[in-house]
This record gives sequence, structure tokens and C-alpha cells, in this order.
Amino acid sequence: MPMRIRYLSLTNFRNYARLELTLPQRPLILHGSNAQGKTSLLEAIYLLATGSSPLTPLDRQIVKWEAEAEGLPYTRVWAEVAHRARILEIEAILEKKTLSTGTVRMQKTIKVDRARKRRADLAGLLNVVLFVPQDVEIVAGPPAGRRRYLDDTLCQVNAAYCDALEQYTEALHQRNAALRYLRDEAAGAGGDPSQLAPFEEILAREGVVVANGRRELIDALSQRADRIHQHLTGGAEWLRLDYQPNFDPATPPALDYQMGLNMSYHGPPKGIGAAELVSAFQEALVARRQDEIARGTTLTGPHRDEMRFMAGSPAQGTHEVDLGTYGSRGQQRTAVLSLKLAELEWMKEQTRESPVLLFDEVLAELDATRRHYLLSQVNDVEQALLTATDLDMFSADFREQAALWEVKGGIVKTGEEG
Ligand SMILES: Nc1ncnc2c1ncn2[C@@H]1O[C@H](COP(=O)(O)OP(=O)(O)OP(=O)(O)O)[C@@H](O)[C@H]1O
Ligand SMILES: [Mg+2]
Repeated sequence: MPMRIRYLSLTNFRNYARLELTLPQRPLILHGSNAQGKTSLLEAIYLLATGSSPLTPLDRQIVKWEAEAEGLPYTRVWAEVAHRARILEIEAILEKKTLSTGTVRMQKTIKVDRARKRRADLAGLLNVVLFVPQDVEIVAGPPAGRRRYLDDTLCQVNAAYCDALEQYTEALHQRNAALRYLRDEAAGAGGDPSQLAPFEEILAREGVVVANGRRELIDALSQRADRIHQHLTGGAEWLRLDYQPNFDPATPPALDYQMGLNMSYHGPPKGIGAAELVSAFQEALVARRQDEIARGTTLTGPHRDEMRFMAGSPAQGTHEVDLGTYGSRGQQRTAVLSLKLAELEWMKEQTRESPVLLFDEVLAELDATRRHYLLSQVNDVEQALLTATDLDMFSADFREQAALWEVKGGIVKTGEEG
């Protein structure tokens, strides 16, 4: 039994007070005017797949305002997912909790089949490929968005990566707090920097897992995105994703870069084992202690990684431009479309199943060729949800085989056929 969402239930999620939805067998087009809840529905599904919203790192933003105002800030997303021979229940709950210290915060609980789980446990249960107009920021925006994209994508299929990332992030917070303590409180009192060591050990060990995971993903996406990009541009442009790890024990000689495409850097020489990387990373952290105490933050490691989108054209030889800096909006959009389609291929290969496609209003920004290419992918997957304000975006053929449901003020009108 292939992977698909059979049932979705929302409580106080964005502008939905309550939604109970049995999803159709065919591609689903959610249409309606602006600000009715189309994007929010896709966001809720993404939350179940990854454990976090694609649109905001602030969980409380998704709690329905009225629920918050009435003093009942409680949000729940629940889905029944058919996966292989099983039926799974995946659930995310947000609740306001008052800690013993008196501070109030939103607490997120993830459950699978009613048992509490960590984010890493969601890996492989429900895989989605989401494409929203804001994704152009993956190319054009700040590096944190690219790291988040890589992490969310990897976490969907790779629990070990997700685990490493969680441990890394926690150790990073702890080391940063310790750095500030050494700078502020312990200044003059001769605070001992060796208290940083246990955090550095974790950062080095897990940081290498994170960096290796990202390198492999970027390599895989780069090859696939390049092929798709060349196709979409009719051969006019090629695309290369360039991983720029913040910590790299084997920085290549500058010469390699200048020799062009085929010499592009693909990580430390094969001979360097994980153990050596870990100790090199740990040494780098120790070496920068004084500097980092002064700044009160950790400056070395994958939390400062970068990935750039490089493009070139056959006519220009090996000359490349950085699309984040110099690309036109249209070039950036095409690059992100290539990336998303590469992600779809990659995810299919990794999981041997088709992920659920969530396409938010993306057709509106594409020309006919690109639109056609994107829609052709929908026929190859088990389940797809698409949103649009304007149904004319879709060909008559496509509309005919789809379910057309209208979203209006947090209510979904089901049943209408194409
Ligand atoms: N926490 C919240 N509580 C209640 N409403 C919210 C909350 N967050 C966002 N909204 C509102 O929910 C509505 C639906 O948003 P959504 O992005 O889903 O609309 P949409 O149908 O995708 O619109 P568009 O076509 O403009 O993209 C918006 O009016 C938005 O302001
Ligand atoms: Mg929208």
C-alpha cells in the first residue's frame, strides 16, 4: 500500500476552528480567494511530516487567534496515514504550559499512534515535497533558510541525521550559554574554559554527521537539479549547488576552484576518516575558545554552513554566476523549481515510495513549459494537493481528473468534481 494521507483533522490551526476532511483518491485542487486557508492546510500537513511549520519557526503563530484570545490556546493537527501495510495516526499538539519558574511557553507534542515521539521518530512515516512561492527565498534569502531547507529535507528520511542535528543544536545552546557565562559572570574570577569541553565533544561528533549528511544531500540534489534545470531552460543554463561548509579540515587549495567545473570541490579527500574529522573539529573549537568567549557565541561549525546556487551557460564556458546575488527573479524561480523536482526524485529513491506533493500557488508564477513539466510530475505520484486562486491555471484535462474543492473562511467545501 503506497503512502497517502487518508484523513486530516485540524483544531484551532490558523483560521481553521475545526476541520474534518477525508481526502480524495485523485489529485486535489484547493481553490478559493485570497486569505481563506489554502496555504494553511498544506502547512498543517507539512507540520505532521517534519514536526515544524515551513512558514514560521514560531509555533505560537499557528494557534488560532481567537483560541488564544479566549485563553484556550490549544492547537491540534491529526492525520491518518496509510503507509506500506499499516495505518498510522500522526498527531501534533501545541499547548500553553506554565513552567515552575512562572514563565509561559508553547509546548509541542508529537505523537504517532498515540505514543509520544521525538522529531527524529517522524522520519519516513509521512514524506512530503512542499513547494510554496516563498521558496524562492531558498535561493535569494539569507543562509539560515537554506540550512533549514536542508535539515527539514534530511530529517524527513534520515532519523540518524535528525538525531545528530538535535544533539548538535542543544550542545550549541549550552556552549553559547557557557561562553557568555565565562565572559560576563566569571570574568576576572578566572572562570575555567575547560568547562566547555563536554559541549565541544558533542558538537564535534554530531557536527561531522550533520556536515556529511548535508554534503551528500547537496551532491545528490545538485546532479538531479542540473539535469532538470537544463531541460527547463532548453539547454540555455546549467545549475550547480555549491556546499560551503563552515568547518572543513581540508580546505582545498584555491587553485582547484579556478580550474572550473570539473574540479569543483567535493569535500575532504576520501582518505580522511570520520574520527579524524571529529578530532580536527574539536581542536578547532578549543583553539577558538578565547575569541568565542569574547564574542559570547560559537563561530565554528555547521550552524554557519552555506549553500550557493551557481549557474552558467554553455556559451560562457566554465564561467558561473551566483543566482542568489545576480540571478533575475525568473532565474531564481526556475532554480528553485529545479531544486524541488530534484528533491522529489531524491526522496523517491531514498524511500522507494512517492512522497505526497504539496504545491501552493506555484503555477501562477511559471510559464507554460515549466507549468506543464510541474504538472506532469503530479501524475507520477500517489497523492498531490495543489492550491490556486484561479482554476484557469490548470488545463481542462488536469481539472477533469482532479477533485476541485473550494476553501472559504476556514471551511472546505468537498465533493465538487472536475
Ligand atoms: N494564528 C492565526 N489565527 C487565525 N487566523 C490566522 C492565523 N494566522 C494566519 N491567519 C489568517 O488565516 C487566513 C488564511 O491564510 P492562508 O495563508 O491559508 O490563506 P490562502 O487561502 O492561502 O490565501 P492566499 O490566496 O492569499 O495565499 C489569513 O487571513 C491569515 O491572516
Ligand atoms: Mg496561500
